[in-house]
Amino acid sequence: MRNILVTNALPYANGHLHLGHMLGYIQSDIWVRFQKLQGNQCHFVCGSDTHGTPIMLRAQKLGVKPEKLVEEMSKSHLDDFMDFEVEFDNYHSTHNKLNQEVVEAIYEKLQAAKLIDSKEILQAYDPKADMFLPDRFVKGTCPKCKAEDQYGDSCEVCSATYSPLDMINPVSVVTGERPIEKSSEHYFFKLSSLSQEIQSWIKSTDSLQPEVKNKLKEWFEAGLQDWDISRDAPYFGFPIPGTDEKKFFYVWLDAPMGYLASFQDYCNKSGIDFDNYWKKGTNSELYHFIGKDILYFHALFWPAILASVDYREPSGIFVNGFLTINGKKMSKSRGTFVSARTYLNHLKADYLRYYFASKLTAKIDDIDLNLEDFLQKVNSDVIGKVVNIASRCAGFINKKFDGVLSDKIIDQSLVDSFQSAHKEISICFENRDFAQGIRLIMQLADQANQFIDHYKPWQLIKEEGKEELVHDVCSLGINLFKMLIGYLKPVVPELATKSEQFLNITPIKWSDIPMTLGAHKINKFKPLMVRIEKEKIDMIIEETKQKQAEETGAQVEEVVKENALNLAPEIKIDDFLKVDLRIAKIIEAEHVESSNKLLRLKLDLGAEQRQVFAGIKSAYDPESLIGKHTVMVANLAPRKMRFGVSEGMVLAAGDGKDLYILEPHEGAVAGLRVS
Ligand code: MSP
Ligand code: ZN
Repeated sequence: MRNILVTNALPYANGHLHLGHMLGYIQSDIWVRFQKLQGNQCHFVCGSDTHGTPIMLRAQKLGVKPEKLVEEMSKSHLDDFMDFEVEFDNYHSTHNKLNQEVVEAIYEKLQAAKLIDSKEILQAYDPKADMFLPDRFVKGTCPKCKAEDQYGDSCEVCSATYSPLDMINPVSVVTGERPIEKSSEHYFFKLSSLSQEIQSWIKSTDSLQPEVKNKLKEWFEAGLQDWDISRDAPYFGFPIPGTDEKKFFYVWLDAPMGYLASFQDYCNKSGIDFDNYWKKGTNSELYHFIGKDILYFHALFWPAILASVDYREPSGIFVNGFLTINGKKMSKSRGTFVSARTYLNHLKADYLRYYFASKLTAKIDDIDLNLEDFLQKVNSDVIGKVVNIASRCAGFINKKFDGVLSDKIIDQSLVDSFQSAHKEISICFENRDFAQGIRLIMQLADQANQFIDHYKPWQLIKEEGKEELVHDVCSLGINLFKMLIGYLKPVVPELATKSEQFLNITPIKWSDIPMTLGAHKINKFKPLMVRIEKEKIDMIIEETKQKQAEETGAQVEEVVKENALNLAPEIKIDDFLKVDLRIAKIIEAEHVESSNKLLRLKLDLGAEQRQVFAGIKSAYDPESLIGKHTVMVANLAPRKMRFGVSEGMVLAAGDGKDLYILEPHEGAVAGLRVS
């Protein structure tokens, strides 16, 4: 029996969970369930990540204490996890006494080991809000490629990294003010002096994914930088001892320590020995499941800190790629930013858990949730191939044989292949190659269906003297179904539980899977799972769009309120009439290669056609625009651009984040003047 501690990244308590988050949590939950089913001692802990500027500002905006915001979010996350059948043994939080003690104790040790330095640094400061600004709270024009509206740490267009004050026209996201440069004393963790320790950890673990090893190599080649672990007040976090509440620990310092605190909290409640999992030299295994965006923190800082304070380092860090929906980054304007709750309002967890499992491997590749494929695959695999076996066989057993199975195995080689797959499927689950595991299980399901199709019990039953054969065929069918459900149990726990009730058996353990049931009495068959209807998917998209519209509405109201006095200077009607606005029909739309912002549109004005380059790429797929009517400025002087001449402009509303082109009411035709 192995002793294993598993964590999943602590979700940030600033907003609701979406399906992208769920990918990682479902992955780790499947793995943990698999370990537990095998009888390993496996503990699964998580909790809310609660500190930092985004939470502080959001709480301010809502007029509540950050503690309250965090508590509510934490509850909502936990509800989502429960309904997605993600079963943590403990769910804690980073904002509590216990975690504070852990953080302070570790900090003290780091200080004692002379691993903390302090120095003055220059930082962006918002004089109006009276606070230092994290890089992500400054926006401006990229100093390198001149792309507008970029964050203060890096450019999404050319990938340049820089400091916010190097940007052209930087503005504070908090107030819209131009930030000033201000100096302040910061504390640094001397990561650069720990490269030996990190290197030897990397060598000692054989569970790192090749992609992770490559990334680490790149980072080492670029040289390790000391890490700024402090932030100035105002900040929602733990004050750094000895700084009069003027300096706080950076959220990313105390967040991973939440793993320790959550587990400690669990040990306190359950009597498990904390040291057995965290002391250097222990045989217990420790795995962190994370998404690819937070690798640096987990693969460099975290092992370095653990090594410095004489804790054990992780046995492995398991990294998942990002979720895309229908092949694209999740997007609010496309209605694919689906929250966990929106999904759950319409569909059960097992469907998505199965689909994710069928796509997850040990690689870091992004995973696509194609909604069409999702419906097809779940309906045809889980319902069409697996549940169907039970529904085809159970009726005869219930009606004709009093619910009692025959103990005669009429196709031993089929049973053999189900039993001998046990090892290979186990290896797939252990190695997190769920996709391959699912393929193997579905191959077995195909064999089971071929077996039933071969005998056709629904015909046999009409023939004289074939009752016994029907009994044997359907009984073996039920046995095969039981084995399939056993294999699928870590993936679809609700279906497994319902099936165990139907089969009238105690919960299946991993080692039980190959066993056959003998002359066993089963219960009456009730539908175990219904097919996904296309309407459900439409409803999920619809609800997502609705929630998005409400959210944007509220945001816009706020922006409008704040900007009420920022109107452009007053004009006369004559000024307005100089602008010739026309209804235009979009007849062509395509991406402009080498531009991240622009679409090339061909607009029909009735009497003539125009080419316009419009900065709306972030919000619209070109195909979705073709055929739509919109409004354009038709008498704008043509402008020569890198890609060609732009002969006008289309009208769109935007708040810097989202964009909406104007569309006239139905019936307006191309060429009509807008006045
Ligand atoms: N609070 C940090 C983690 C601290 S761990 C000490 C954090 N929180 S998060 O809420 O932003 O993300 C939680 C998990 O979801 C992370 O593992 C993150 O990588 C993952 N994902 C967030 N968006 C995702 C997708 N679109 N797709 C897949 N995983 C995603 O990061
Ligand atoms: Zn750039």
